[in-house]
Amino acid sequence: MSTVSRLLTMFLVALVAFGGGSGIVMAQGTPEGASPAASPAAESTTCLPESIPEKDSYLIGMSQANEGEPWRQAMNDQIEAAAAEHPELEVVFADAAQDNATQVADVEGFLQQGIDLLIISPNEAAPLTDVVAQACAEGVPVIVLDRRVNGEEYTMWIGADNTLIGQMAGEYTASWCEEENHDPCLIGELRGLEGSTPAQERGDGFRLGIESSSAIEIAASQNADWLRELAIPASQAMFQANPDLNVIYAHNDPMAEAAIISAENQGLDPESILFIGIDGLPTPDGGLRSVADGRLDVTYVYPTGGQEAIDWTVNILNGETPPREVVLETIEVTEENAQDVLEQFGAE
Ligand code: FRU
Repeated sequence: MSTVSRLLTMFLVALVAFGGGSGIVMAQGTPEGASPAASPAAESTTCLPESIPEKDSYLIGMSQANEGEPWRQAMNDQIEAAAAEHPELEVVFADAAQDNATQVADVEGFLQQGIDLLIISPNEAAPLTDVVAQACAEGVPVIVLDRRVNGEEYTMWIGADNTLIGQMAGEYTASWCEEENHDPCLIGELRGLEGSTPAQERGDGFRLGIESSSAIEIAASQNADWLRELAIPASQAMFQANPDLNVIYAHNDPMAEAAIISAENQGLDPESILFIGIDGLPTPDGGLRSVADGRLDVTYVYPTGGQEAIDWTVNILNGETPPREVVLETIEVTEENAQDVLEQFGAE
């Protein structure tokens, strides 16, 4: 196993350790007042065949939105490592390369191959909704991971609370602006792909988090589709139009890293700007290392749910009724705890 795979496996094991097994997991670092009430997990009643035939081996289709991104590669690695513990599972992967039509065709291909269960992390919600419903209609249970589809036609959803993560980022921003006496405090936002649910939720949550601060102004908001290569020109244009930005809130770490490069290229002092990202991968070029090294200021661990997807695959195939949702934990990471969190995930 490579060092990166080993780190990612430890990352998932550590996150599962938080999870316990209750199905509903409270987010660590929850801002006051935003804490969801602890409640028993509602059981899923849709998209569950009455009985699943017992077999020696099961074919699982894993439809990935875009393997080109490090976080998605981490999700696939975690699924592969978790599935390796279950010799009866054969997982086939498909990469939609951020194209909705390709992902629809991938799922249709899986259904033709006769998969026993579908795991999908959809590129965008609306275009993938029908094909997921089609899998259900054909009696194939579906686990939706991280990004959501619309409607109710899937067996269960596993992912972190993106509205909460956005809100935590907003509240962190509000306190930082106050401490630094920035009034106005100008924000540049780099958004994820608009039709993907985390982009909407991370944007909305952030706005909730800054609501009570009258000094904060979102001066610029640009879409960079989650991609570092699109975030470079987007952040460059943003800094050119608004050289006084105080904060960059990027919906993921690769876009935040791009903004740091743009600030440097423009002769701005990155030390004077607050850079916030989301993902917190424990890999050498991931967000945790970047915060520990003092480049990125804040990130939020966004677990991929790969381990939980396989755990629930096994349970569903064994006839267990899953909860409708499993909400994974986040961790707010700043220079104060970055090293500890890295060590917690087995990195140095
Ligand atoms: C990868 C990614 C992550 C992000 C997640 C949201 O495609 O952009 O960086 O946290 O998707 O769905």
